[in-house]
Amino acid sequence: MMLKRLTVVLLAALTLAGCDRVDPNSPLGQRKAIFKDMLKTSEDLGGMLRGRLPFDGLKFADGALKLDNLSHQPWQHFPQVRDAAGDSSARAEVWERQARFHDLARQLEGVTGELVDATRGQPLDAGQLKAPMDKVEAACKACHTEFRNH
Ligand code: HEC
Repeated sequence: MMLKRLTVVLLAALTLAGCDRVDPNSPLGQRKAIFKDMLKTSEDLGGMLRGRLPFDGLKFADGALKLDNLSHQPWQHFPQVRDAAGDSSARAEVWERQARFHDLARQLEGVTGELVDATRGQPLDAGQLKAPMDKVEAACKACHTEFRNH
């Protein structure tokens, strides 16, 4: 009996350690996964423009589309009432100043849309993509400065 209980406790502890304590199906788990994908996608785009990765116009255009698609997705996973304060790096301001938060979300969606517009018509000129990509990176940063703990 004791042994069985101990096993259950151990298994629970292992499960918790294994999944970084965040349930991937929870709103927090879902928005974190989208944000991570956004980071990876935007780093690849920025990397192509800064020479860390070889520039490939078709890949860049695909990545821009993907980023624009992703930029619409995290917001639905911020519930009306603050969740998971302990594991989340979102500041309470996300819920206290929702209008401003949504403003900055719309700004990101706007500039990722402009990035997609800049990638219509191959072959692409990397030089022409720097300004729209800078705007995207600035939109990420602006919101993190106001709404995320670093
Ligand atoms: C409108 C606000 C807003 C914008 C715009 C925004 N983010 Fe975030 N981001 C957040 C908030 C809030 C969190 C914290 C989420 C949480 O932990 O609950 C976050 C978290 C993250 C994380 C951490 C995820 C994790 O594993 O904990 C990454 C990476 C990230 N954002 C990347 C980006 C990138 C890249 C962009 C731009 C392409 C971007 N974000 C734009 C608000 C924003």
